[in-house]
Amino acid sequence: MGTKKWEEASAIQTRVMKESWPEPKVIPNGPCKQVIIKEHNIDLRKQIPKVWFTEGQAFITGLVTVSKDPETGEKNVGWYRYGFFDTHPQTGALYSEEKRKRCLQGYIFWNPPLSHIGRQFAKAVKMGKPLEVAIVGPCDPTIHAAACTDMPYGKDEFAFAGAMRGGPVELVKCETVDLLVPASAEWVLEGEVIPGTDELNWGHAHGMGYLDFGYVLPSIRIKCITHRENPLWYATTESKPPWDHQYIIFLNRYLLESIRSHIPEVKDITMPVPGITVIQLAIDGADREPEIGKRVMNALWSMPRLPGVYKFVVVVGPDINPYDIQEIGWALWTRCQPIRDSISQKVLAMFEDPSVPEELEGPQKNKLIGEVIGFDALIKVPEYYPKFQKVVEPSKEEVEKISAKLSQELSN
Ligand SMILES: Cc1cc2nc3c(=O)[nH]c(=O)nc-3n(C[C@H](O)[C@H](O)[C@H](O)COP(=O)(O)O)c2cc1C
Repeated sequence: MGTKKWEEASAIQTRVMKESWPEPKVIPNGPCKQVIIKEHNIDLRKQIPKVWFTEGQAFITGLVTVSKDPETGEKNVGWYRYGFFDTHPQTGALYSEEKRKRCLQGYIFWNPPLSHIGRQFAKAVKMGKPLEVAIVGPCDPTIHAAACTDMPYGKDEFAFAGAMRGGPVELVKCETVDLLVPASAEWVLEGEVIPGTDELNWGHAHGMGYLDFGYVLPSIRIKCITHRENPLWYATTESKPPWDHQYIIFLNRYLLESIRSHIPEVKDITMPVPGITVIQLAIDGADREPEIGKRVMNALWSMPRLPGVYKFVVVVGPDINPYDIQEIGWALWTRCQPIRDSISQKVLAMFEDPSVPEELEGPQKNKLIGEVIGFDALIKVPEYYPKFQKVVEPSKEEVEKISAKLSQELSN
């Protein structure tokens, strides 16, 4: 995107969201096809880099998935992980040779909370047929950014990526599935998600920093691998934060723009430390509508696929830096009465949250209902006070004067 700063990348994403997006262009061939490995020549154990940093099932963490709605043909590009089959979680025995060579376990949640590919797979299961997929990457970074953005179903992630990179994304036809993939990708794994293959995975190391007890997930059978000569690989950890997606989440301006289209006073949404979401408003005090902080928090929890990600929320005014934990703490401490100014509710949980109990067993084993709480740390004028106390802090000049004097004293 022509910048090394994520704030600038975020600004580009925000700008292009309001512009028209260039349609992707289909071209006859691309570097992703320099090497082609088909059917019985495939052995994932030998051909796919297995980069893993921690305990539990090893995953492919850095590729994005292209798929199509089996009913409407609507495309989706999403960022999902794929586990290698190795040892069975319960018996400790190795999976079959065929499974270890040709299959991956897809973290494409088709139980609630549904990912978009999960929605497509649920339809395919009803229709009794497999769902074709192409697992691709590393691609142009804008494609990865678009793939992990909470975009409405049916919006074209490739077109959005094209808008961010400043030109149409070039696509090529896959060899064995009816899908189009970025021509410049390093790797393409073509295959299909097979109905009826749900099983409990290995211990699952996840981004909240724990090894959980596993999920029931379907298998993907790989039909063809294509890649560049000397291809690059990208992997990220699934472990205690910080990790890559904490930074990738910062780039996700889609949610911000969706809320802002209803409540233009919202200036920024960020997660300066794991688990704490800060919403900054552009105005505070008597300039804004009463109790807007609560309306904004309800808007945040009503938009995304997993509202439970936004488990602890703080709303601050324009004078508080939403990236500075000192300032956020001060705002909470001095502008918020914890009971009077908080709201909480039950929402769809972050399914990896170890503090949420599992509610269902068997094929639907998953976590469903979690809790969220938000603290309104805006200045409560006009709600409770006609005016608020003035902030006291030394001026920059005063600090510099004392600092210079102290340096002089110390050097004597
Ligand atoms: C590194 C990384 C790994 C992710 N892994 C998964 C995953 O395994 N399964 C999943 O459903 N979402 C995963 N996500 C989140 C999704 O990419 C995100 O919810 C995205 O909006 C999904 O696309 P969709 O809305 O088209 O389903 C991951 C995101 C990142 C950045």
